[in-house]
Amino acid sequence: MIDNKKVLFSGMQATGNLTLGNYLGALKNWVTLCDEYECFYSVVDLHSITVRQDPAELRKRARNLLTLYIAAGLDPEKNCLYYQSHVSGHCELSWILNCFTYMGELNRMTQFKDKAAKHADNINAGLFTYPVLMAADILLYQADVVPVGKDQLQHLEITRDIAQRFNAIYGDVFTIPEPYIGKSGAKIMSLQEPTKKMSKSDENPNASIYLMDDPDTIMRKFKRAVTDSEGCVRYHESQPGISNLMDIYGACTGKTYAEIEKEFEGKGYGDFKAAVGESVVDVLKPLQDRFADLSKNKDYIDSVIKNNAEKANYFATKTLRKVQKKVGFPERIR
Ligand code: TRP
Repeated sequence: MIDNKKVLFSGMQATGNLTLGNYLGALKNWVTLCDEYECFYSVVDLHSITVRQDPAELRKRARNLLTLYIAAGLDPEKNCLYYQSHVSGHCELSWILNCFTYMGELNRMTQFKDKAAKHADNINAGLFTYPVLMAADILLYQADVVPVGKDQLQHLEITRDIAQRFNAIYGDVFTIPEPYIGKSGAKIMSLQEPTKKMSKSDENPNASIYLMDDPDTIMRKFKRAVTDSEGCVRYHESQPGISNLMDIYGACTGKTYAEIEKEFEGKGYGDFKAAVGESVVDVLKPLQDRFADLSKNKDYIDSVIKNNAEKANYFATKTLRKVQKKVGFPERIR
């Protein structure tokens, strides 16, 4: 608890370009959470170097992501938006938690197995202990809730196991985090394979709408989007392509399935796809404009980075000192 509010923590990697799926499914819905929760959103650059990165590119992407958070409406006075690498407590707690995590547990992590297969030439120890660093992120702020996708649930589970193990030895040190189950955002699927999630790492650029795509690109991608054989705009499991487009249109316009079906009754896929494209342009254009304006304001972004790192550091250090004492490190002489 901070100021009587529960704590929410989430992290995002600055690798790959964010997609419409990331925006409609996550980011957009985070904007109002600060009313109820004390929110921390970290750009997790320490995690990013578990696979090889181009340094200049990583730095640029990290800054763009943080800027995008603000452009999307996360108020940096009400949400703590910061770089993980600016708060050394993440690494320090991570080391301690490493000593409370078993090799066998980490060996079972499916993301490690996937990434090890994908980066067979660089299976480094950081990739293996990635979930421990993630546990440190969450536990450092005593987070009550963590909004995560399905692919990260196993990591949240191991976080809980580590925290419970630590608490069983040393008393109530860590808050045990829960997955955040709020009103969930729209789940957006690939435009080319609508049974697969829209992903920032998809190799087919036509499968995803990137948040920085210009209007022409957006319209073209929707024109090429895979549809179904029925020929009418109707929400149904057997029509994953059209249903996905309806989800996107609904999320961008606030219209219900019934309203959308009515609006496009007797019309073909072509009309519908154009309307979906336009609704997406209408949502992304203001976001892109705000992003461009913010990017020009270097001093402002720098001040957000500095102030929020200080704030994060304050809360992180509180937990860290407690943990260091519990495990038997000597007190600092002041
Ligand atoms: N591993 C997460 C991902 O790739 C990112 C992440 C790092 C995270 N630390 C976190 C997410 C803590 C939630 C909480 O999506």
